[in-house]
Amino acid sequence: MTEPDPVPAALREGGPVVVADAPAGGSVWIVTDEDLAKEVLSDPRIVKDPAMAPLDWDPLKVGLEPTAAQRPSLTTMDGPAHAALRRAQAPLLTGKRIREQQDRIEELARDLLSSYSGVVDLMADFTTRYPLTVLLDMMAIPPENVDKAMDACRQMLSGDQTSAIEALMAIAATGREGGIAAELRERLPVDTPEEEVRYHLFGLIFASQITTDAALGFLVARVLGTSDADLVEETLRQHPPAPFSLWRFTAEPLEIAGIQLPERAPVLVDIGGLGLTFGAGPHFCVGAQLALAELRAVHTVLRRDFPSARLAAPYEDLQQVVFGGVGGSRLKELPVVLG
Ligand code: HEM
Repeated sequence: MTEPDPVPAALREGGPVVVADAPAGGSVWIVTDEDLAKEVLSDPRIVKDPAMAPLDWDPLKVGLEPTAAQRPSLTTMDGPAHAALRRAQAPLLTGKRIREQQDRIEELARDLLSSYSGVVDLMADFTTRYPLTVLLDMMAIPPENVDKAMDACRQMLSGDQTSAIEALMAIAATGREGGIAAELRERLPVDTPEEEVRYHLFGLIFASQITTDAALGFLVARVLGTSDADLVEETLRQHPPAPFSLWRFTAEPLEIAGIQLPERAPVLVDIGGLGLTFGAGPHFCVGAQLALAELRAVHTVLRRDFPSARLAAPYEDLQQVVFGGVGGSRLKELPVVLG
């Protein structure tokens, strides 16, 4: 936990664009300069659609989604089609919307933390359960689905992804009127197939869980184990849940920072090293306000409602599991006594 990650510094030494071996073969071009990163993240010639991935890549090796044609989604579409989908999804999670939910977001944190007693490993349950509890609540999905959603999110990382996606899509389908799942359905064009709506909801659920889960562990460790101020932003900077952007590919040969890239070249941005926690440009994280609200809620609730909470292991002994590839890291265990 206390050892600095050597990767961002090593990358920065390699120049504004570092060419590295890609996990599925061939090269990957990693952008480490901030201005260049913002350009790349907004360049219409550098696309998200996995249809433009190197032809010899095994999608499983690099965690590629299906193509935009197979599964239209925020993370696979580009250009005007992506912008139209953003216009339907982004209003569900604006800062104003989230601020209106702040009391509820804190209440859910307090209720959940109050349910544990004795020494509890928060990474074993809380950090996974809490983001799902909040989002399913906002989606008006009955709370008895949280356990199933936790299982499916875990299965996304280490099991059969197809059945995990199906499970999360089935859970998304139970969203009642008055929640943002039903609202998304209304905001999309009327001819949008139900399957597609559910895939968008799956995308929100999984994107919200995997990132916030990791961030919560580091945040709680720092709240209880250090006297640092400015905890939420600083935690995200030091332990970026998404250290690299998702995969992008050149749709045509092009030049960046004087380097020639062929068509179908994989491009990543070192967003962790650059402190661009939620990305930039048209794919900027749609859930950033919700993630910040959840992290601030847990910080507030711990300080206010659990004044004698403490770590049950020395801060310096906490260990991270590093996922490798474009993934981030997560605390292995976080034993605490809440009060
Ligand atoms: C601390 C928590 C989070 C972090 C660090 C994070 C980070 C990011 C980053 C870096 C991107 C841009 C990826 C790229 O351009 O390649 C992104 C996109 C996205 N995030 Fe988050 N995220 C977090 C929480 C959430 C939450 C809570 C939700 C949903 C409620 C969410 C939903 C999404 C979606 C749907 C996209 C795709 C947007 C698009 O492509 O237009 N994220 N996130």
